[in-house]
Amino acid sequence: MLDQKVHDESRQGEAYAPGVETVNEFAKKFYIESYGCQMNFNDSEIVASILQNEGFGATRNYEEADFILLNTCSIREKAEQTVRTRLTEFRKLKRGKPGMLVGVLGCMAERLKSKFLEEEKLVDIVVGPDAYRTLPGLIQEAETGQKAINVLLSREETYADINPVRLDSNGVTAFVSIMRGCNNMCTFCVVPFTRGRERSRDPHSIVAEARDLYDRGFREVTLLGQNVDSYYYINGEDQSTNFAQLLEKVALISPLLRVRFSTSHPKDITDEVLYTMAKYENICKYIHLPVQSGSTRVLQLMNRTYTREWYMKKVDRIKEILPGCGISTDIITGFCTETEEDHRDTLDIMEYAKYDLAYMFAYSERPGTLAARRYQDDVPDEVKKRRLTEVVSLHRRHALEGMQQEVGKTLKVLIEGTSKRSEEQLFGRTDQNRVVVFPREHYKKGEYVMVKVNDCTAATLLGEVVEPVEA
Ligand code: 5AD
Ligand code: SF4
Repeated sequence: MLDQKVHDESRQGEAYAPGVETVNEFAKKFYIESYGCQMNFNDSEIVASILQNEGFGATRNYEEADFILLNTCSIREKAEQTVRTRLTEFRKLKRGKPGMLVGVLGCMAERLKSKFLEEEKLVDIVVGPDAYRTLPGLIQEAETGQKAINVLLSREETYADINPVRLDSNGVTAFVSIMRGCNNMCTFCVVPFTRGRERSRDPHSIVAEARDLYDRGFREVTLLGQNVDSYYYINGEDQSTNFAQLLEKVALISPLLRVRFSTSHPKDITDEVLYTMAKYENICKYIHLPVQSGSTRVLQLMNRTYTREWYMKKVDRIKEILPGCGISTDIITGFCTETEEDHRDTLDIMEYAKYDLAYMFAYSERPGTLAARRYQDDVPDEVKKRRLTEVVSLHRRHALEGMQQEVGKTLKVLIEGTSKRSEEQLFGRTDQNRVVVFPREHYKKGEYVMVKVNDCTAATLLGEVVEPVEA
């Protein structure tokens, strides 16, 4: 689910200011800030679309906003603390600006419900992830001084008909949500409680959204869901579409449209998906396959439903069907009862998989989860952190080795924009999601180029264009 890659904490708190130029200057203005996963960032784009259709305008400057919205994340305690600090800042701002409203959207709204309005009085509006269509009405209620809250979860809502507003994007890559919710019940995870039951979006609306993006010049879509491999849609005529079939439909839009997806649960990714990836050059050979732990005992406590050996076989299968496929992961250190031996199993499975990218976290107990109810959070903080440091440094070594292996190769790169470091340099990504920086010359974002890699750092490949791919 969550970074421009996956779970990119670096994007925390980014502000979206869609459609600024289309807005009537007398319209009420909203400012929206997003935290957490990619899904949340995409949800903010849906919210912006709903508000724009109601005549509200967006602003990048919260000081001129009539209402400030925070799209929040509950996955770890730290994520919630960050939002609370921000809300306290906005409360101060509100004192000097009567009439300004503050709304909390997303997972924290769902988890804390009316607590936000009653006990904490930090906010005026509380809206859960399935209730965004009601936001304009809730704003009206809040304007008249009423408590405005809707945290109903839905079994149907997929926002299928809403075209997310994309103006804050690079114009090349975009997210498309294909499903919502999660039925997996990993014991550490709050998501099934905050985002509800799993439901899949109509494939026609997904393909239409991706095609529209392509027609507008976008060249990469990332299909998003908490667990994309369990995507399954049945229409009125009993025609079903599974994830492999959906991937194919999106890949067929154009060979120039790259397709990525995230997140895959190891138990659900099928050979059919892997073969579909192999069949289409434009489906990126990159899989986010969270392992969480390398110990079968801990995996069982986490309710991940696979063993260490089963996961390793899945990695083998991926490499067999898709040689060179990039694999990334999520790892939690210090889950309840985790021993040094369990921790060594995690380091060992990392040695086996040699992840290209990893999101690594110390376990954070979340109220209401199965783990919070069933197990004791008994690994001391300093042990969790020390294990995390070990996991992070091993991953750094693997990531650097992976980058070094690319030096000397010529790789196809989709250009995403100007490099942060220099106007004279462009950057893009390879199929395996590696960032490549190279001299601008006459190339433009949205184009594909072949780049000969001459050097690398742990995070970036450096090279030069040897031949453009697209005319
Ligand atoms: N503590 C730490 N990390 C967690 N994650 C989910 N819940 C928790 C938690 N309670 C991590 C998992 C998941 C990623 C999105 O966040 O690794 O895959
Ligand atoms: Fe949480 Fe597990 Fe669902 Fe991912 S698959 S959202 S970790 S319950």
